[in-house]
Amino acid sequence: MNSPTKQTVQTLRLSVIGTGYLGATHAACMAELGFEVIGLDVVPEKVDLLNSGKVPFYEPELEEVLQRNIAAGRVKFTTSFAEVADFADIHFICVGTPQQSGSYAADVSQVFGAVESLAPHLSPGDLVVGKSTVPVGTAEKIAEILKISAPGVEVVWNPEFLREGFAVQDTLEPDRLVVGVTSPGAESRMRAVYAPMIEKGIPFLVTDFPTAELVKVAANSFLATKISFINAMAEVCESAGADVVQLAEAIGYDTRIGNKFLGAGLGFGGGCLPKDIRAFMARAGELGAEEALTFLREVDQINLRRRSHTVDLARKELGGELRGKTICMFGATFKPDSDDVRDSPALDVAVALANAGATVVVHDPKGTVNAERVYPTLTYSTDAMKAAAHADLIIHATEWMQYREIDPAELAKVVSQKNIIDARNKLDVAAWRAAGWNIRALGRPTA
Ligand code: UGA
Repeated sequence: MNSPTKQTVQTLRLSVIGTGYLGATHAACMAELGFEVIGLDVVPEKVDLLNSGKVPFYEPELEEVLQRNIAAGRVKFTTSFAEVADFADIHFICVGTPQQSGSYAADVSQVFGAVESLAPHLSPGDLVVGKSTVPVGTAEKIAEILKISAPGVEVVWNPEFLREGFAVQDTLEPDRLVVGVTSPGAESRMRAVYAPMIEKGIPFLVTDFPTAELVKVAANSFLATKISFINAMAEVCESAGADVVQLAEAIGYDTRIGNKFLGAGLGFGGGCLPKDIRAFMARAGELGAEEALTFLREVDQINLRRRSHTVDLARKELGGELRGKTICMFGATFKPDSDDVRDSPALDVAVALANAGATVVVHDPKGTVNAERVYPTLTYSTDAMKAAAHADLIIHATEWMQYREIDPAELAKVVSQKNIIDARNKLDVAAWRAAGWNIRALGRPTA
């Protein structure tokens, strides 16, 4: 289905299938690099919103990039696979791979669904580039499917490493680019796509399918392990009367260890780290390599224990009883600078406290709409001071900058009791104590 326009274009024309955090960012950023881009989503409302220059989620900088490139005529969105195939010849698959319900494994139905919908419209020479996080072996399966349904179409695996909150920056200036290919032709086309980055000196690693797929889950597993390591140290610090924040700083100066991702606290959540380590364990089991990843089960357990530990600590701080108490949660999203509440530690804790009989009021600068959709029974407020009114306890659960800027003396005027748990270890403990607060910070000494 090569249209005359498609054959004569000078600039590369790309498509991006799926417009979630990954896809919408990739589409806008590829346009920012000067390519002509078409994005596809099966949800017409999302497509309309994106075409009007609005991003259906909160991601700093993204809306400006999108609007600039819509105005320049470099990016547009559609629901039609035929239009996408007619417009572009390199197709990025950016759909979600959530955890399957009732299993640790990833649900890859959206990936295969996208490939099956696209295949009948593709032409020989087209490239299908997978960016979604998938179980190792998926790229090979897609290549097998396309061999039959779209002969002459090649597959590339090109994992994405962007962080929410920094998605634009991470896409335009990634630490590295990884492509799994099976032919020199596919490699050179990927070099053309990423030429502006390669010219800047960003490492470009060329490998096979399984390695490319594994790089992504290995990276996320390492990051999750680092966080759980420091949270395990926090548990020991609490028992020993030591300070995990100082410990992290001290070990972080060792360049072999590094100081990033050593933030002890409520642990990791979101749509990636938790489900990726579980899917990796499930896939390793299928491959007969289960034993290699048993440590990830412990990483997951340590992480989940942070949430129950915070609930226990809240109970303790409130004299052993949560029923009838008012608790204000500062934060609902899984991390700051995002409106994403998927597997949010903050909300998990909020729900557990509410189930134990507390009245829980949740504040978040960007996440209350999404949170209310998932947990409609909690109370929400977009004003931190109002959310804290009459609280017996505040829990600092997501480290938005705004919470660090709160004046403890001002907050003291609206609460019933001056109790606060810093579950992210980002508050100035001394300043809060000086203002008369009983502050408990996870993994830090009590006084
Ligand atoms: C993560 C990876 O960092 C990205 O490289 C990857 O591309 C992405 O998953 C993905 O697979 O798509 P993201 O989920 O946006 O990115 O969030 P992170 O910044 O990794 O944070 C994950 C969680 O760990 C958050 O809940 C955060 O609060 C927590 N965290 C992070 C800590 O508890 N301590 C830390 O020191 C750092």
